[in-house]
Amino acid sequence: MESGPEYTIPRMTAFAGALDRLAAIPSLDLWAPPSPIHGLPRLGAALGGGPRLLVKRDDAIPFGFGGNKVRKVAIVAAAAVAEGADTLLSVGGVQSNSARVVAAVAAQAGLRCVLVANGRRPDPLTGNALLVSLLGAEVHYVETREERAPAMARIAEALRREGRHPYEIPLGASTPLGALGFVRAVGEMAAQGVVPDVIVHATSSGGTQAGLVAGCALHGLPTRVLGISADDPAPSVRGAVARIIAGMGPLLGVDGEALALARPIDVDAAHVGGGYGVPSPASLEAADLFARLEALFADHTYTAKALAGLVHHIRCGAFTAGQTVLFWHTGGQAGLFA
Ligand SMILES: Cc1ncc(COP(=O)(O)O)c(C=O)c1O
Repeated sequence: MESGPEYTIPRMTAFAGALDRLAAIPSLDLWAPPSPIHGLPRLGAALGGGPRLLVKRDDAIPFGFGGNKVRKVAIVAAAAVAEGADTLLSVGGVQSNSARVVAAVAAQAGLRCVLVANGRRPDPLTGNALLVSLLGAEVHYVETREERAPAMARIAEALRREGRHPYEIPLGASTPLGALGFVRAVGEMAAQGVVPDVIVHATSSGGTQAGLVAGCALHGLPTRVLGISADDPAPSVRGAVARIIAGMGPLLGVDGEALALARPIDVDAAHVGGGYGVPSPASLEAADLFARLEALFADHTYTAKALAGLVHHIRCGAFTAGQTVLFWHTGGQAGLFA
């Protein structure tokens, strides 16, 4: 764990009051933050020195096998409970980390969970699909990504007709409300005494990056946030991140459009390789280095691609020796058992 000077959080006057509004937004009490931060000295040395490397261990969040989705779903599910929901619905791939966290939250809150997954049911069940089944969620399988949201809407409608109270959680819980979990996480990191020059992380549906970028702006940190795409091209991820940040405006009582423009939204989509979930030579090498030098695990869909980006940027000399680069480990390790 990094220890540093007490960090006093400066506030940007344009967004005054936003952090007080954030503090008042309910969240389920699933775990006790912070997730640990520590150095990656052997990885840094193997990459030839360069910047000081740190890792923020959201993979070590102790609820439901952890990961970035715990931060988002904790807030979204609190809204569902406040509305009197009796069923949580969500969507994702068969090995969705997000769907696993929704199922875990539902189990702990005593709610029913219905998931729509695109792809084929693994036989035998593996990875997140196995965990979701252990958690007691009901899974409806569809063939394509496009069929997921309409199927969830149909199931929600049918439940309403039965007199139940379903609450729909979109892909990755990447709504403005869910992304506030990462605005909070930036405050958590600063309170640990760590203000890196750069944060590098895996990005996909955009909620994590939206929270990190808006969080750095709202907490007045100079940190640059670099999202490494797991699938979509950079303009599409950037657009999603900007829309999510803009949507935080009404929740925080500030101008969301101005907040979305307050910081650059940096997305690097050069490390997707053969596609979503397909390991590349660079992501395999990066995951090997992570495990063999630091005893940390990266999944092939998200975090190994992000690490491939980190390794690439370090080898290219994109970060200087005096800089601190924090790899935000977003979890996903259950995918290694898929
Ligand atoms: C392990 C992991 N890392 C990163 C991401 C990307 O996060 P986001 O969807 O918020 O962009 C996801 C989910 O998509 C994930 O499961």
